[in-house]
Amino acid sequence: MSIKTQFIIPEGGPYYLTHSIGPMTRKGKDYLDAHYLTPWIEKGGQAWPYWLTLMDRFNGALSKLLGGGEDEFAHQPNLSAALSKYLLSLPLKKSTTKILMHAHAFPSMGFVVSALKSDNFELVLIPETQPAQDLQVWADHLSEDIDIVLLTHVHSMTGVLSPVGEIARLAKSKGKRVLVDVAQSVGVIPIHIPDWDVDAVFGSCIKWLCGGPGAGWMWVRAEELPTLNPVTVGWFSHANPFEFDIRNFEYSETAKKFWDGTPSVAPYAMALGGIETVLDMGVETIRARNLELLQTARTDFDFTDNGGTICYKAGEQADQIENGLKLMKAKFDRRGDTLRLSLHVTNTLEQANRIANLLKPI
Ligand SMILES: Cc1ncc(COP(=O)(O)O)c(C=O)c1O
Repeated sequence: MSIKTQFIIPEGGPYYLTHSIGPMTRKGKDYLDAHYLTPWIEKGGQAWPYWLTLMDRFNGALSKLLGGGEDEFAHQPNLSAALSKYLLSLPLKKSTTKILMHAHAFPSMGFVVSALKSDNFELVLIPETQPAQDLQVWADHLSEDIDIVLLTHVHSMTGVLSPVGEIARLAKSKGKRVLVDVAQSVGVIPIHIPDWDVDAVFGSCIKWLCGGPGAGWMWVRAEELPTLNPVTVGWFSHANPFEFDIRNFEYSETAKKFWDGTPSVAPYAMALGGIETVLDMGVETIRARNLELLQTARTDFDFTDNGGTICYKAGEQADQIENGLKLMKAKFDRRGDTLRLSLHVTNTLEQANRIANLLKPI
């Protein structure tokens, strides 16, 4: 099947915004209709068994994509909510729990930790002047008082791809709990969670999985599940949601303990279409094409240790490049003097060359 039949790409100039929101998949659009709207139209409230099976299919697709058992995945509205829920579920013995992140981690993840100050969480940041991908930098900061490390697989403002496996191994050897944010890598960088010695992984489907907003998720190691006690619960985090005994709450034995009340179904119907599209293509194939396009757009830069996005710190040239991109009606974004341009399989070599022509004179 051609890219044009698998994706619905916004009209106009080149679409370089996958780091923000990936283009819609045809399957996602069809699934929204087939697995959400149609069951509702045809069955009304009797659609629930079908919808709950769909939620299981979502977990199944993630398990196929990333390794890990289906029961280790739980849908979440977004990464921030998932991190907050996870931290509050931990069996903590100490008065203060220090969480180490790099200053280039996505700000929202830091906000979550800072907001949990009254629950004795404390955010410790590695300064932005020290490279996030440098194992020695992490070694220097993994002091005894650090309890948890949150790694960002691909950094959204710099594009830097972290050696998660190596940093996690080091942190684990020092007895730390290791969490990973894969928001900017899932779908474009091959990931097999069991290869990493980590405790939890947080992701969404909005970017390289092309699944739209609202379909976040978390993965939690099965052996750890019995020790985690989420505090925001609901009937769907119960071992038997249909028991209906207000005096008896029992956690689900699976990652479903991280569900709460009635799940939203629509985002997961769409996202399932995105994940299946990516699974059909294969993440290795997507990454190979992404690298080809990135290297075409910038021959002066080695993208091996970079995610799928060009994060071009343009300094004084930022306005000039932005104007060039606007002239070609490109969809892109700019944060300060950094221009961000993502190249997914929906982009063409010609579109990568247009970036090259714009950056070359600079
Ligand atoms: C690396 C990274 N983490 C997290 C997020 C966002 O998390 P949330 O799902 O809470 O909006 C983003 C959004 O761009 C991101 O780039």
